[in-house]
Amino acid sequence: MIRSRPRQILAALLLTFAFSAAAKAETYRWVQYVDDGAEVRAITTKAQCPVVEIDGVAAPMSIRAPADKEEGAFPVLVCFAKLPPTAKTIAVDHAPLKAPPHEINRIVVIGDTGCRMKGEAMQACNDPVEWPFRTVADEAAYKKPDLVIHVGDYNYRETRCPEGNAGCAGSPIGDTYAVWQADFFSPAETLLVQAPWILVRGNHEDCARAGKGWMRLLDPYPAVAGEPCADIRPPYLAKFAGQTMAVLDVASAAESKVSDSQKEIYKAQFATLSSTLSGPSWLLLHRPIWGVALIDKGVALGSNLTLAAATGGALPQALELMIAGHIHTFQVANYAGSVPPQIVSGHSGDNLDRGVPDDLSGLTVNNMTITKGLNMPAAFGFMMLERQGKTWLATDYDVHGNTLKQCRVEGRAINCQ
Ligand SMILES: [Fe+2]
Repeated sequence: MIRSRPRQILAALLLTFAFSAAAKAETYRWVQYVDDGAEVRAITTKAQCPVVEIDGVAAPMSIRAPADKEEGAFPVLVCFAKLPPTAKTIAVDHAPLKAPPHEINRIVVIGDTGCRMKGEAMQACNDPVEWPFRTVADEAAYKKPDLVIHVGDYNYRETRCPEGNAGCAGSPIGDTYAVWQADFFSPAETLLVQAPWILVRGNHEDCARAGKGWMRLLDPYPAVAGEPCADIRPPYLAKFAGQTMAVLDVASAAESKVSDSQKEIYKAQFATLSSTLSGPSWLLLHRPIWGVALIDKGVALGSNLTLAAATGGALPQALELMIAGHIHTFQVANYAGSVPPQIVSGHSGDNLDRGVPDDLSGLTVNNMTITKGLNMPAAFGFMMLERQGKTWLATDYDVHGNTLKQCRVEGRAINCQ
């Protein structure tokens, strides 16, 4: 028995390699939370959607979006299959995926992951140190999360790489499948199959930028043929035992001045959340309502004026934590008044933000005072939230999985070491 084990292991490795090689050549596959539960999605270059097997029953996946033959920007089929809440085992073309868990205990949070190519800002997408998202995603997968949250901003390659720049040479640009693949699907492929995902929409996915790709590939609502890009989707909930995630689409929420029309929309969304949420809940959104992105002439900037106005300075009582991105650091803030604390985890790939002080305690941003807070500058990485009894341990990891900071989320407060 003992002597036959290496052969079994070799056979298993070969089988895994065969499956993953086949999957890599043709198909990305993942499980994501959507407006009414969870579904399996897949992207394929083949003419037909793959077969999904749910609890041993095989069926072809349905088409979410056909290959875009006219413009050719999206020459792939996007496929989906709704998951029954009872689903235990899932496989796409025999390659297994993790089913949505009843309870979550280990959550990876990544954000702002793509490679910046816009005007003068040309990140070295070909250099894994300068743009480390694949390493971050692999390391995050190695931590074996049971849920992955991406807090938004996937598609970053907007303008052409200048001639002679080896750092970004050969890179595609625009809201095209080639960019979605280079910026997100390819580097994230190990993490994509590790656990189900909650995918938050970032401002890079608003309708003026990569909204078309977002609607086709990752939007949590059913795709309707010919439907124009939606500026603001309604919030939806992902529910687990003793924990609810409320996901808000703030991709186009006007930041530096209040948009009255958007304010009314978000006010109504917060009111809906107030009446629907019960039990411990977190708010997931891309743009922080009261973050610190910059100190300009002694004034802390980083608040979203439209969202702040929509809250009226208070958030639904059930919300114990806000998780955001948009600012490219790891940042923690407790606030005066009746709003939950916030963690920003937007340091997983794009150029880091370096204009934020380390100590945020005592700063006031858009009339909201940070009673206690910190900012970790200049380190790429990701966050892991681990359930420990009635509290959550939030760890900020660097790209190699080394601990940079640990904080404890307890009720409506975060305390860092
Ligand atoms: Fe952003």
